[in-house]
Amino acid sequence: MSIYLEKEIAEYKTINQKSSDLHNSAKQFMPGGDSRNSIYWDPFPIYLSDGQGSIITDVDGNKRVDFINNMTTLILGHRPKAVEESLMNQIKKGFSFPTPSPPVVRWAELMCERVPSIEKIRFVNSGTEATLNAIRAARAYTGKQKLAKFEGAYHGNHDAIQISVTPPLDLAGPASSPNSVRAFKGISNKAENDIVIMPFNDIEASSKIIEKNAGDLAAVIVEPVNGQCGMIPAKKAFLEGLRSLTKKHKIILIFDEVISFRVAYGGAQEYYKIKPDLTSFGKIIGGGMPVGAFGGREDIMSLWNPSGSGPTVQHAGTFNGNPMTAVAGIATLESLTEDIYENLNKKGEYLRKTLSILFKEIEAPMTISGIASLFALQFTTEEVFDYRTYAKNNNTLMKTMFIGLLNEGYLLSNRCAGNISASHSYEEIDGFIEAIKNVLHRSGYG
Ligand SMILES: Cc1ncc(COP(=O)(O)O)c(C=O)c1O
Repeated sequence: MSIYLEKEIAEYKTINQKSSDLHNSAKQFMPGGDSRNSIYWDPFPIYLSDGQGSIITDVDGNKRVDFINNMTTLILGHRPKAVEESLMNQIKKGFSFPTPSPPVVRWAELMCERVPSIEKIRFVNSGTEATLNAIRAARAYTGKQKLAKFEGAYHGNHDAIQISVTPPLDLAGPASSPNSVRAFKGISNKAENDIVIMPFNDIEASSKIIEKNAGDLAAVIVEPVNGQCGMIPAKKAFLEGLRSLTKKHKIILIFDEVISFRVAYGGAQEYYKIKPDLTSFGKIIGGGMPVGAFGGREDIMSLWNPSGSGPTVQHAGTFNGNPMTAVAGIATLESLTEDIYENLNKKGEYLRKTLSILFKEIEAPMTISGIASLFALQFTTEEVFDYRTYAKNNNTLMKTMFIGLLNEGYLLSNRCAGNISASHSYEEIDGFIEAIKNVLHRSGYG
């Protein structure tokens, strides 16, 4: 641990005493004190008591500007009026029904209207279930077993896809034909064998892998913006190459838009002008309630149709399409006009541009990646375009920045990724840039 990180942690402990106490209690009942490893950090996470607009307040009374918005979910900020009102109205009618209710029909209609590739859609309760079902659909439709994914991509917490998410470099194999590496013990060997791993943003190497495995491949799954490696946008030619190869070999192309649906009114597929066969969704489409969805080509989605002779693929879920999530989703989607996207994306561009200039000016060993309202601080001066280049990040400086920003009053993800919500003002963005400058200054830069 560097002296700079030690100092930031000492300050952090001083101002977050109640969070520390709560964490000690939490650890007695939940392993590590929570039910979600991805938001844990040492020495303990802050425990939040409320959020309003762009501001979150923790149990110690510290107010911070939230630049992670529940991992990109809260695109309108915390408790936007339209969403809160729709939830309050629904509470009076009932929050969980044993048959469909009107809101889910409107919600599905909104998604189909917004995204031209979505001819039919089904709702679930997490992005994990969304990718699980999209992959299952591809296997059922093609009769093939294998799946291709990209190194360094996270698509949820199920066996088929928890492979080569953050593989240790000594196990990862050659950059142009990476090994498939289980993310952790407990993932089935079959999942590890049923997958091929490709390098993100490298169409030449990926083409060779697809061509070689085409006869066995049910699907290629790709995030148009790789969230795990710091919101790295795919190159357009790379996605176009994947589209034409998958078409040629009758492989289902799945876009995982759980995060990238933030990029444009119709998601990243609108921005890139590419039509996948299936898409998985999550996060913003549920307005802050638990959510996931998958949809796409009618001929594939009809596998789920239970009427007549019954479905080819079974699909149950006690809370699928529940009315609370549906009304929050409707209120969010109806608020998300083209203008809102334009504003969000302008703020994102402003942040990235200003920070790039700053890093050069003070010779900080950093860059910033991202697209639209998504961004991530990268602690390397080399361009980050895939997992191997992302792995060059200086993790100590990253952690110092993360804790330092918490001390300054700003929350990012613990890997220093962030996003802008409609609640953020330019003043808050300027304050955030100043805070980054302060942490760098305390760490010996500028
Ligand atoms: C691209 C992507 N796909 C799938 C998921 C899984 O979503 P959930 O956490 O709702 O299961 C995530 C979660 O962060 C994600 O970023």
